[in-house]
Amino acid sequence: MITKVLKIDINSLQLARNIILSGGAVAIPTETVYGLGANAYDTGAVENIFAIKGRPNDNPLIVHVHRGFDISELVTDIPDYAVKLADAYLPGPLTMVYRSKGTVSPAVSCGLSTVAIRIPSHEGVQKFLKYVNLPIAAPSANISKHVSPTSAGHVYADLNGKIELILDGGVSAGGIESTVLDCTGPEPVILRTGLITREMIKKVAGACGVYEYKDGETARSPGLKYKHYSPDCRTKLFKYEEISDAMEYFTQRMRNGVKAVILCDDHVAKMVGVNYVLNLGKTPEDMAANLYARLREGEKIAQEIIAIEPKNKSGVMAGVLNRLKKACAEVK
Ligand code: TXA
Ligand code: MG
Repeated sequence: MITKVLKIDINSLQLARNIILSGGAVAIPTETVYGLGANAYDTGAVENIFAIKGRPNDNPLIVHVHRGFDISELVTDIPDYAVKLADAYLPGPLTMVYRSKGTVSPAVSCGLSTVAIRIPSHEGVQKFLKYVNLPIAAPSANISKHVSPTSAGHVYADLNGKIELILDGGVSAGGIESTVLDCTGPEPVILRTGLITREMIKKVAGACGVYEYKDGETARSPGLKYKHYSPDCRTKLFKYEEISDAMEYFTQRMRNGVKAVILCDDHVAKMVGVNYVLNLGKTPEDMAANLYARLREGEKIAQEIIAIEPKNKSGVMAGVLNRLKKACAEVK
C-alpha cells in the first residue's frame, strides 16, 4: 500500500472521509501527538487499528470528537465537576473517562463499561472531525510500544505501507499525550499525567486524585501496565542526584566502543558539557514538546541513550518524567 502524506485541505479531507467511511484508518495530527483514527461505531475499523499497531487487545482507545459534537450520544452520568473542567480546558489535551452509553463499538473500550472522550484543540484535526462528523477512535499513531509520533514524518517512519493516508498538520506543539482523567467517581482521578496538570484540575474541580498503578493489580487504565514510548536502542535512566554516576557510565560505554548519547534538560546539558547530548530544552513545556523527537533522533544516532532526570518534578514535568521513565526503563 502506498502511504500518502497530505496537508489538510478540501481534497485531503474528502479522501480522509472516504477512507473512514469505508472502514479504513487515517493518521491525524493533534496538539499532543499524532493519532491513528477510525470510525468508533465500526467494530471492524476499530479492530483494524489494533492490528496495524500491534496493540494489545485489552488496551482501550480514546474517542475523538469535534467541539460541537453532543457527547451525551456516547456517554452518560456526566458529573458537575466534569462540565466545569470541560468549560475550562476543552478543546485541549484532556481526555475524560465516563460511563459508556454503549453506542460506540465495544472494541473501543475492550469490554470496559466506560469510554474515554477527547476534544483536541488542533485546528486541522477539528476540521477533519467536523468533516467526517463521526466519533473517531484513535490511539497514538506509532507501532505499539515505540515512541509516540509528533510529526507526520514520525508516523511515516512507523506506518509507511500500512495505512493509506497521513494528514500532515505540522509538528505537535504539546508533545506528550493528553491527561487521562477518570470522571466516573465523586471526584476526578488522573489515570495518565499530561499537560493539563493536577493543580489545574484541582483549581476548577476542587479536588483531584492521582491513580498509581502497582505491578500485578488490575489497572484502572489498562495502558498503564505496558512498557511504552521506547526507542529502538538500549536505554538507561539516572536520577538528577546521580549525574556523576551517569557521566562515569557514559565514559565507560564510549571506552567500550558503545556509541552512547546523553538525554537531559538544558540545565544538566550545561553541567555535563559533553558533545554527545540530546538537549530537551529549558522549560517543562519545551521538554514535553521535544521529548519524543529527541528519543527518535537518539535511536538513529546511538546504540544507547543515557537519560538524566530533571531536578524539578512537579506540574507539567510530572508528565514528562512519567514518559521519560517509561521510555528509558531498562527492561525490554
Ligand atoms: O493525546 C492523546 O491522548 C493521544 C492523541 C492521539 O489523542 N492519544 C493517545 O492514545 O495517547 P493511546 O491509545 O496511545 O493512549 C490511550 C490511553 C491508554 O493509556 C488507555 O489505557 C487509556 O487511554 N484509556 C482509554 N480508554 C480508557 C477507559 N475507558 N478507561 C481508562 N483508561 C482508558
Ligand atoms: Mg500510545
